[in-house]
Amino acid sequence: MNKLLIIGSLNMDMVLGVPAIPRAGETLMGELRGYIPGGKGANQAVAAGRLGRGAAMIGMLGRDSHGEVLAKNLTQAGVDTAGIGFCDAPTGLAVINVSADGENNIIVIPGANARCDVDHIRAHEAMIADSEVVLLQMEIPHEAVFEAIRLAKKHGRTVVLNPAPAPERLPEDIYPLIDILCPNETELERLSGLPTGSAEEAEQAARALLERGAGAVLATVGKRGALLVTPGQTLEVPGFPVKAVDTTAAGDTFCAAFCTKLAEGAGMEESIRFANAAAAISVGRAGAQTSIPTLQETLAFLDMRAV
Ligand code: RIB
Repeated sequence: MNKLLIIGSLNMDMVLGVPAIPRAGETLMGELRGYIPGGKGANQAVAAGRLGRGAAMIGMLGRDSHGEVLAKNLTQAGVDTAGIGFCDAPTGLAVINVSADGENNIIVIPGANARCDVDHIRAHEAMIADSEVVLLQMEIPHEAVFEAIRLAKKHGRTVVLNPAPAPERLPEDIYPLIDILCPNETELERLSGLPTGSAEEAEQAARALLERGAGAVLATVGKRGALLVTPGQTLEVPGFPVKAVDTTAAGDTFCAAFCTKLAEGAGMEESIRFANAAAAISVGRAGAQTSIPTLQETLAFLDMRAV
C-alpha cells in the first residue's frame, strides 16, 4: 500500500529570471534560466517521494521529451508511477517569471493535463482505494478532481485538497468530503470571499469554509507560517525565516510534507512544523523540483532550529 497518493498536474517549467514581476503593459529584459521539472501535482509527488516512505501519483503526460524527463524525475524520487498515463497532447508547460527578490508569477498551459479526466481517474480507482491519504490540487479538469474526491471518500480515505489555482468557488457538495483544505492566503480569500490580511481575518475566512463543511483548514499565511483552524481549535505554527531565492513549489512542498507526516501517523502540530521546515528549505533554492529537500536535509534543518 502507498500511504500517500497525489492526483494532479505535471508541467515542464520554463523559468525566466526578471528584475521585477512585470506589470500590465510593461516590457522587461529577462534571462532564460532553463527548463525545470514542475507542475503542482508532480512537485507534491516528488516531495512525498523524497520525504516519506511510499508515494504514488495519478496524472497525464505527453509522449514527448518533457514527458520523459518528468516521468524519470518521479521514478528517481521513488514515486510509484503506475497511475501516470501518456497521451498525444504535449506535456503541460508552465512559464514562470522569478524576480530578483524570489517572488514569481506563473502561466500554465495544461496540454496533457487536460486529459487527466474523469475516465482516467475512474480507471485508477484501485490506487485510490489502496492509499491512506489522497492529496489533490486544481490544475487538472475540476470534474476529475471532484470525482477523485468522491472515490476517495467512498473508500474511507483522508482527503486533502490544495485548492491551487483557486477557482471562483468549489461546489457546495464537495466541501463536506474534504478532510483538510490547504489554501494559501490568496486562495483562502478567493474561496471565502473574505479578507485575510490579519491573523484574525484569516481565521474568520477559514471558519467560513468550515461552515460549508470542510473538516479543517490549514492555510499557509506567508512569512507568519501556517494557520490550522478546526471546529474546536485555532493554532498558528510559525514558519522558519529564510532568505527567499525562489518561492516556486514552496506551497507544494508544504502540502506534501504535511501529508507525508500525517500518513505516517504524526500529530497535526508536528506535521505542520515538519512541513514549514521542508518549505523553508525549498524557498532558499531555485526551481520547482530542484528545490525540494530530502528527509535527511529536513531533519537536519529541524535539528539546527531545535537548539
Ligand atoms: O506550484 C508551482 C508549480 O505551479 C510550478 O512548478 C508550475 O508548473 C505550476 O504548476
